[in-house]
Amino acid sequence: MRVRKKKHSSERILACSRFLIENPRSLMDDPNAAFEKKRPLHLEIGCGKGSFAVGLSQKRADINLIAMEKIADVAVTALERAAASENERNDNLKFIIGDAKFLTEYFPKKSIDTIYINFCDPWPKKGHAKRRLTHRGFLEIYRSLLCEGGMLIFKTDNEQLFDFSMEEFKEFGLQIVWSTKDLHSEQNEYAKENIMTEYERNFSSKGFSICSAHVKF
Ligand SMILES: C[S@@+](CC[C@H](N)C(=O)[O-])C[C@H]1O[C@@H](n2cnc3c(N)ncnc32)[C@H](O)[C@@H]1O
Repeated sequence: MRVRKKKHSSERILACSRFLIENPRSLMDDPNAAFEKKRPLHLEIGCGKGSFAVGLSQKRADINLIAMEKIADVAVTALERAAASENERNDNLKFIIGDAKFLTEYFPKKSIDTIYINFCDPWPKKGHAKRRLTHRGFLEIYRSLLCEGGMLIFKTDNEQLFDFSMEEFKEFGLQIVWSTKDLHSEQNEYAKENIMTEYERNFSSKGFSICSAHVKF
């Protein structure tokens, strides 16, 4: 993703600091301590500009959601989106600026109920496979953090990445509860509950089908 350098991004992040967990390592003691109420914890990895995170947190008052983004200049937009929707109820949404490869330094074992990965970078070159967020190296991390029976909910427009991911899930012994290669044409509850991301809106408006899988750990 091409990222334009944002003007005054540190000041803008500071202005939304109530949504930011500045020291993610502090979550190690109790990730729910960052929130007003203890609720099941969900994590979005690579939240981009945050429309899924804001939409999910508003729809699901019963969860606490942490949305993670590694690029600060992208996270600014997500933080500002959360701040702009503050008249809605969103005491259940926080952000981390950080990289998924450090997740085990941020979250205690078995502390997360559901992980969302939406339109992650496909890293198409074979030599870069380890960087894909659905590579078994990352699945190992998710397994240590997810509660027993925890879910990974994955969406992508990239069929090669989807096929690779499904193979990784199977090789890793995970249960694929539901999957589709055309999410927007499905009529079941999984599809009805779908919240669109920025990339999803963009790709589907260009005629691309959206692949999705719900995977149980
Ligand atoms: C292709 S964009 C998709 C953004 C958003 N999820 C959507 O669907 O509109 C992928 C995002 O994931 C972030 N990202 C990629 N690798 C990451 C990692 N290892 N940890 C945290 N964020 C990551 C990127 O910076 C980028 O903002």
